Amino acid sequence: MADRTEIDVEDFRRALSCFATGVTVVTTLDARGDKVGITVSSFNSVSLEPPLILWSVGVDSMSYDVFVNAKYFAVHVLALHQQDLSDRFAQSGNNKFESLDCSQGIHGVPILPDFAACLECSTEHVYPGGDHKIIVGRVHHCEGRETDPLIIHRSRFLRKESPS
Ligand SMILES: Cc1cc2nc3c(=O)[nH]c(=O)nc-3n(C[C@H](O)[C@H](O)[C@H](O)COP(=O)(O)O)c2cc1C
Repeated sequence: MADRTEIDVEDFRRALSCFATGVTVVTTLDARGDKVGITVSSFNSVSLEPPLILWSVGVDSMSYDVFVNAKYFAVHVLALHQQDLSDRFAQSGNNKFESLDCSQGIHGVPILPDFAACLECSTEHVYPGGDHKIIVGRVHHCEGRETDPLIIHRSRFLRKESPS
């Protein structure tokens, strides 16, 4: 079998979209101290001891350089009612934090006012991953709340709450 098989990009996208994931917003500060954030579904757990997580940032993202060089960042797992934040942070450019009353986390990293879970991290490794860089973070502080998560499946947000 050949080492490299040509895969149609749309087939690849469609196959990947069958994997349901949560949606997160990853935040940090840039070199000037301005808040930076991006919607991310590539988040996953890596290790319990030490506590490690990962996510990947695409080269096309305007905040690519900021995140690849960031020493600290925070991952916010979005709750079911936070689709507006997913949409807001998936748009390139400035003003993503307008009217959001953020607090300061590890080394000043912006913490969103609401979330299903928040993990404050330092960057442990940055690995090449094709048109993305894979960022592995060590978790220094985390909080998870009893709220339904925002879930995306086949490019659609699932709207169902869990039965109580
Ligand atoms: C549901 C969803 C998941 C996403 N996941 C990622 C991801 O894991 N990594 C990534 O680099 N971009 C991801 N994106 C795209 C970025 O959020 C988008 O490119 C954003 O515009 C980047 O902002 P920036 O250009 O200001 O850095 C995702 C977008 C959506 C809507």
